[in-house]
Amino acid sequence: MHLPHDEVIPILDFGSQTAQLIARRVREAGAFSLLLPPDTPLDVLRELRPRGVILSGGPASVYEPGAPTCDPRLFEIGVPILGICYGMQLAARMLGARIDPAARREFGRASLDIADQSGLFGSIPQKTTVWMSHGDQVQALEKAGLETVASTPTCPHAAVRSTDPSRPFYGVQFHPEVTHTPHGVDILQNFLYRICGCKGTWRMADYAETACQRIREQVGRDHVICGLSGGVDSSVAAALIHKAIPGQLTCVFVDTGLLRKNERPLVETTFRDHFHIDLRVVDAEAQFLGDLAGITDPQEKRRRIGHRFIDVFNDQAAHVAAEGKNAKFLAQGTLYPDVIESGHSVGGKSAGIKLHHNVGGLPKDMAFSLIEPLRDLFKDEVRKLGEVLGLPDQIIWRHPFPGPGLAVRVLGEVAKPKLDILRECDEILLEEIVAADLYRKTSQVFAVLLPVQSVGVMGDGRTYESVVAIRAVETQDFMTADWARIPFNILAQISNRIINEVRGVNRVVYDISSKPPATIEWE
Ligand code: XMP
Repeated sequence: MHLPHDEVIPILDFGSQTAQLIARRVREAGAFSLLLPPDTPLDVLRELRPRGVILSGGPASVYEPGAPTCDPRLFEIGVPILGICYGMQLAARMLGARIDPAARREFGRASLDIADQSGLFGSIPQKTTVWMSHGDQVQALEKAGLETVASTPTCPHAAVRSTDPSRPFYGVQFHPEVTHTPHGVDILQNFLYRICGCKGTWRMADYAETACQRIREQVGRDHVICGLSGGVDSSVAAALIHKAIPGQLTCVFVDTGLLRKNERPLVETTFRDHFHIDLRVVDAEAQFLGDLAGITDPQEKRRRIGHRFIDVFNDQAAHVAAEGKNAKFLAQGTLYPDVIESGHSVGGKSAGIKLHHNVGGLPKDMAFSLIEPLRDLFKDEVRKLGEVLGLPDQIIWRHPFPGPGLAVRVLGEVAKPKLDILRECDEILLEEIVAADLYRKTSQVFAVLLPVQSVGVMGDGRTYESVVAIRAVETQDFMTADWARIPFNILAQISNRIINEVRGVNRVVYDISSKPPATIEWE
């Protein structure tokens, strides 16, 4: 197992919805954290040379049959352990305490009364608000060698610690990782700095260096191919690999004809002109549009685009090989949440596994080894890394763009004239959103060309032209999303400009559906 940093705090994930949030908070505080399955053996944990271990919350009750548990030797690890909610209950039980169902489930804000403002609660006000979400409570602490450090009116042992200094354990019944616990970050920092002795030196610039070192070791003298989409993940992956092994990377950008306006020049300028990366731009518009002719079913569009993409990519890989380069590696911009959600890393107990849209994904039987230099990072960390690597803001802060591109935004049959209309509308929309300083405040904004015509008047004449829908959403994870409350005056300006400047459009509508039940894309 590689160690990206020397201050590592593993988190045993018992299926909490907020386990990822704990990992992020720890990283924000400057230590490297990673989520591990709850039953990770002690030897594997030891290999990480952790400074401390965190046990996450989880939806189960520790006394239920089949409830997730951890290696019974966990307390032999010799570093401080922090149990959060379920993690606290499980650890307390392993030490000999009793866990009982509470008289009623406690959910929401509670007032915490701190008996000892040192250690975990150093510099925290004596009374503070915390966020609770639990149905069980820890009892009979003495038997487990634990003592109470803080309580709430309904939870007498809201925070506990071990009385045995050779077995440093701390438990909190509340959730310090959520923003509803105002001093939660301070409590986690106290655990890291005061209790585990971390210095908080996990920094992106250092990470870039460590990651480069790792890439050099992995790739040796071989060559890497990277499918560049222009999105933040593949862009950062490419820039990082280029920094690590300049001259050993070839990027392939496929112009599918389904791209937004100016997408191709942005990628060319950034990667070829600025970074001097060997960038192959493949003009495959004719093939993609040929494949899509007469096709209206969204899934069939995706299928055809995916196949064509693979063909084009394989062709390029063959070219690179024909030039005598040993293109043994394929770079992918896989992120840490993908790693967790595809079950490689987590105990598989949390609900809701994200469905990945893999159009533009590559076939499993390609003769490449994968290189995934971002697989330790969260999205915001990838952006920080992009900044460290000198990528332009335009790329770093890009909204996501689906692999099938505008093909799923031209509803119904796709053809070049329609794509051109949509590109114009989309450009105006984004210009206005940027001008109104809304780009960074929204998660995804785009235009959709509807397959209907509507009647309008222009001057003295009647028109019968296309309708364009504007979609703007705010979301944390793209699994659920709310429509963005774009101010009416901005919407008016967007609508005016589109109708006046784009020939063939006489009506603009705003999509006010949330996901679920709607999806973000229309197809
Ligand atoms: P939906 O429409 O499912 O979209 O709510 C969620 C997120 O996924 C993107 N999306 C795709 N990305 N290939 C992709 O690479 C696809 O086929 C695809 N379909 C949707 C969408 O833009 C949003 O960010």
